[in-house]
Amino acid sequence: MTKLAIVTGGSRGLGRAMVLRLGEMGYNVVMNYVSDSSKAECEKNLQELKKMGVDGIYVQADASKFEDCQKVVEAAVEKFGEKIDVLVNNAGVSNNNSFHEMDPSDYEWLVGVNLFSVFHMSRLVLPYMVEQNSGNIINISSIGGLMGVVNQADYCATKSAILGFTRALALEYAPNKIRVNAICPGMIDTDILKGVNQDELNALSATIPLGYIGDPEDVAGSMQYLIENNYTTGTYVTPNGGICMP
Ligand SMILES: NC(=O)c1ccc[n+]([C@@H]2O[C@H](COP(=O)([O-])OP(=O)(O)OC[C@H]3O[C@@H](n4cnc5c(N)ncnc54)[C@H](OP(=O)(O)O)[C@@H]3O)[C@@H](O)[C@H]2O)c1
Repeated sequence: MTKLAIVTGGSRGLGRAMVLRLGEMGYNVVMNYVSDSSKAECEKNLQELKKMGVDGIYVQADASKFEDCQKVVEAAVEKFGEKIDVLVNNAGVSNNNSFHEMDPSDYEWLVGVNLFSVFHMSRLVLPYMVEQNSGNIINISSIGGLMGVVNQADYCATKSAILGFTRALALEYAPNKIRVNAICPGMIDTDILKGVNQDELNALSATIPLGYIGDPEDVAGSMQYLIENNYTTGTYVTPNGGICMP
């Protein structure tokens, strides 16, 4: 039977790379997106999945809202049945601003998208995983969860919190054979770097020991590793080119 994965923020960037990798691995994939403009991106991903011989659906939902997350999980179960093998909590945003200049609504929004989405989706998927006595949750943190980054205090706080959540959840659900891990990517080439000019990109690359900005495929590879390694839980992998060596 084809397995099922749910990826939040599966429309583009790291999410897209992981959706397509899951397709290659033989999973049906449920994608979530939020921006109207990203519906077409999800449709493209779906066509790619179908070419690989698997299936998928996409659901517009603001992952910071519990009711919207419910829509995603209900759609998944309605289409593919009550077995959910993998959840990738990937949706995330950044404010990139001095903390003292931020409006409280800015960081409240960020905490909602980066952290509450992870709680909501895990809360909704775990009952299925407990029932089936198996499952795999992968939370996308960041090197910002392992070290400080200027103008990213709110972002770093949520990414560190994700690591705490990952460890505690892994311990709580290990008896149910549910594994919970995180990925802490370094700088990866996605829309996050849009607007950074070539000189700045060169300067950024020069700060990375391996000398280049990572590719979304690097993160998809980490995800695959975590799915396939049955003895790994409560930890993280950090594809980061050597910029952070925890
Ligand atoms: N790229 C990096 O260098 C890097 C490094 C470390 C960690 N990360 C983390 O990796 C994850 C993906 O980042 P990315 O670089 O791929 O970013 P991206 O290209 O900007 O994509 C962000 C994704 O999150 C979705 N999203 C944003 N707000 C949402 C909401 N309220 N509800 C549901 N989905 C929402 C977006 O959906 P729409 O397409 O609908 O807008 C999009 O799919 C994030 O958690 C980010 O913090 C990225």
